[in-house]
Amino acid sequence: MQLPARFSDLPDYPFPRLRALLDAHAPGAEPLSMAIGEPTHPYPAFVAETLAANAHLWGRYPPNEGTPDLRAAIADWLARRYGAALDPDREVCALNGTREGLFGACLALCPERKNGVRPTVLIPNPFYQCYAAAALAAGAEPVYVNATAETGFLPDFAAVDPETLARTALVYVCSPANPQGAVATRDWWRALFALAERHDFRVLADECYSEIWRAAPPPGALEAAEDRERVVAFHSLSKRSNLPGLRAGFCAGGAGAVAAIKRLRAYGGAPCPLPAQAAAAACWRDETHVVENRALYAGKWALADAILGGLPGYRAPEAGFFLWVETGDGEAAALALWRAHGVRVVPGAYFARRTPAGDPGAGFIRVALVAPAAETRRGLEAIAAVLGAPRSVEGET
Ligand SMILES: Cc1ncc(COP(=O)(O)O)c(C=O)c1O
Repeated sequence: MQLPARFSDLPDYPFPRLRALLDAHAPGAEPLSMAIGEPTHPYPAFVAETLAANAHLWGRYPPNEGTPDLRAAIADWLARRYGAALDPDREVCALNGTREGLFGACLALCPERKNGVRPTVLIPNPFYQCYAAAALAAGAEPVYVNATAETGFLPDFAAVDPETLARTALVYVCSPANPQGAVATRDWWRALFALAERHDFRVLADECYSEIWRAAPPPGALEAAEDRERVVAFHSLSKRSNLPGLRAGFCAGGAGAVAAIKRLRAYGGAPCPLPAQAAAAACWRDETHVVENRALYAGKWALADAILGGLPGYRAPEAGFFLWVETGDGEAAALALWRAHGVRVVPGAYFARRTPAGDPGAGFIRVALVAPAAETRRGLEAIAAVLGAPRSVEGET
């Protein structure tokens, strides 16, 4: 039977590709995954208590857009975090994790034609792979905009040719960026929204790493957009609260865009279960655990700076929990790490697309700092050994 041709250009997802690369070879030591970005720090104790207290609600269909209490907790958090006043009824929608929302928003918001032709969706390159599949599902042409050292590891959308910008309906942004750890400044966001006004597109701002920062909280798209209809921002508890299994996130933005997203979700969405929504509301209301979580990452960033700092390809990330390390040949480096030390990292090419300007991922590996500090130290020392940096640092883990 035939399958839709529009997905035929999609490569396999990065993790099956990684298994195909590594699993034919024996690990050189006890396996340690620094591949998948799955947080392992503890989540707050009140989550289990709140789930238990709301267990009677597993038997109910959850509301599609989130309970009023959850949407109120989210709007309060947005006001505290960004000074942005959003209407919880019209400008906020709960999500079952941000991935489905990032995908569904593209379907809900991308028109069939823009200025009489097939629209484009601009995607930073490298990128979270969901964006490309969403653009193709919506019938749009994904256009990959390289985010390299030359552009501060953020895409320079203003440099896209005017013909493509005229066809652009949506632009995905990831800040803090997975995988590079770069952060969009307020001025960067403002310039993007000025471009959005000029070329009449919307911005889908993936900010799910916004709370994992080093020196200062990353500015958000919602604080920079003068016209809220230009933006939908996506946030998640997966990283902020170490709850990737809860499947709880939200999107927030212009009432028109949020209404379109809610409308499509009413037909095909998978709402977050009611006990999980109650736990999510409690998480958005609490910052103590978020501060503690950042402190755990701070220890691991310090380890990375100390162990890899002498490596020419190392750059300390501004935020998020990934290292984006330049290695020459990412696949060869990933294989060498696995065979010599049992450490799994992902070749950067698996997150990128080759463009006429080159493949911005091929020379990199992505390293997730999600394991406990002692394991992270072992992984970093293995990377230093394989890539040729000084081997070890003394001191605490
Ligand atoms: C950049 C980015 N966006 C979105 C997601 C989706 O996260 P979730 O669906 O758990 O909120 C991830 C997950 O790793 C991610 O790295």
